[in-house]
Amino acid sequence: MGKFYIDGGKRLEGTLRVQGGKNAVLPILAATVLNGHISYIHDCPQILDVLTMISILERIGCNVKWEGKTLIVDSSTVSSYEVPEDLVREMRSSIILLGSVLGRYKKVVISYPGGCPLGPRPIDLHLKALRQLGVQIKEEHGFIICEASKLTGAKIHLDFPSVGATENIMLTAALAEGTTVIYNAAKEPEIKDLQDFLNGMGAKISGASTDVIYIEGVKKLGKVEHKVIPDRIVAGTYLTAAAITGGKIELTNVEPNHIQAVTSKLREIGCTIIEKENRVFLKAPQQLRSVDIVRTQPYPGFPTDMQAQMMALLTVASGTSIITETVFESRFKHAEELMRMGADITIEGRTAIVKGVNALTGTTVHAKDLRGGAALIIAGLVAQGSTIVKGAKHIERGYEEIDKELQLLGANIRKID
Ligand code: EPZ
Repeated sequence: MGKFYIDGGKRLEGTLRVQGGKNAVLPILAATVLNGHISYIHDCPQILDVLTMISILERIGCNVKWEGKTLIVDSSTVSSYEVPEDLVREMRSSIILLGSVLGRYKKVVISYPGGCPLGPRPIDLHLKALRQLGVQIKEEHGFIICEASKLTGAKIHLDFPSVGATENIMLTAALAEGTTVIYNAAKEPEIKDLQDFLNGMGAKISGASTDVIYIEGVKKLGKVEHKVIPDRIVAGTYLTAAAITGGKIELTNVEPNHIQAVTSKLREIGCTIIEKENRVFLKAPQQLRSVDIVRTQPYPGFPTDMQAQMMALLTVASGTSIITETVFESRFKHAEELMRMGADITIEGRTAIVKGVNALTGTTVHAKDLRGGAALIIAGLVAQGSTIVKGAKHIERGYEEIDKELQLLGANIRKID
């Protein structure tokens, strides 16, 4: 597995175009199975999770090809409702194919998902909702076998506003008979992007980005063309990297409204942030200030996918900050790696107490998941001396050429295979 070698101490300065959204394009790629037709998807990030999803689509019979950053998917040739186990194990978010294969074939066989080790990541909310749509579900030897003689719309109340469960219900219900209503739906911007994509195919869905979503089943779906929304987590990651190095950065292709929870925290820390239509400009303060509390919550609260990056930043802020992770059971694996770099962090259950230190020291650290890995790179950018971040593959699941992007901004970083 590759690693990143970073010499800390360089200010980041410059302009960066934010890549298309990973968590938007993955459900959208799954949705291409529904129309049995051609889908043109623009501004797709070239990252490992997208390559994995493409492999799954090809394995079930789709034709997929790149044209620059546009993916052209032809799902008229889909020939199997069995989602390949080896690829599902590789990426948990492939569970999103449950809804689209089921929606099209009324049958799907898929193994329990693997992917990031963020604590137990059950799919009980997904399965409970599918049963309400008329799906029979059997679980055998680690596989989930779903079948429905007919998919019928239902009123579904989610016990938790799960992103994946909301998406799977939309995908299964798009071609069901009758209307489905999701109460307590996830409100992330990626849900709205999936709604726009599906409506582009001829679906009748409304309410995405609120907590009630209406899906009126239709008979058929057709060709679609769509541009993926920018990646709000990648945007937040680069803003945080500029902040920790005392630099200044301008992001283009960004939706300022999608990152309000992050930019308001960065302002609390002392950054100057100016927002225009689809650009965000950040200038870091001389001295980063600690914040009373960062509590991760479903959108529009502070995103759990920015928790690790924010922790890295706060390790060198003046004062003590509290971080509470309310969304995932165990998402602090990066803390022990940051402590190896000299950070002062105490973990108590879902809360981390971060006492700012004057400086971090470069050493060898291990990325254990995607966002934790990004946090270690951020720490390495400001640490004294050199830092080696092992486990580059975790980071390349979600960040397009992160070493090259950071080099363009002045960082002293290189990838070692
Ligand atoms: C999506 O994961 C994102 N992934 C995650 O981003 C993100 O962290 C998460 O939403 C929350 O925003 C993609 O969109 C591909 P959830 P998902 O269902 O759908 C529990 C990244 O770094 N839960 O909202 O899996 C679950 O255990 C990734 O880009 C159940 O208990 O998130 C977790 O604690 C990491 N039962 C919480 O809900 C269920 O049936 C949030 O899960 C489903 C979820």
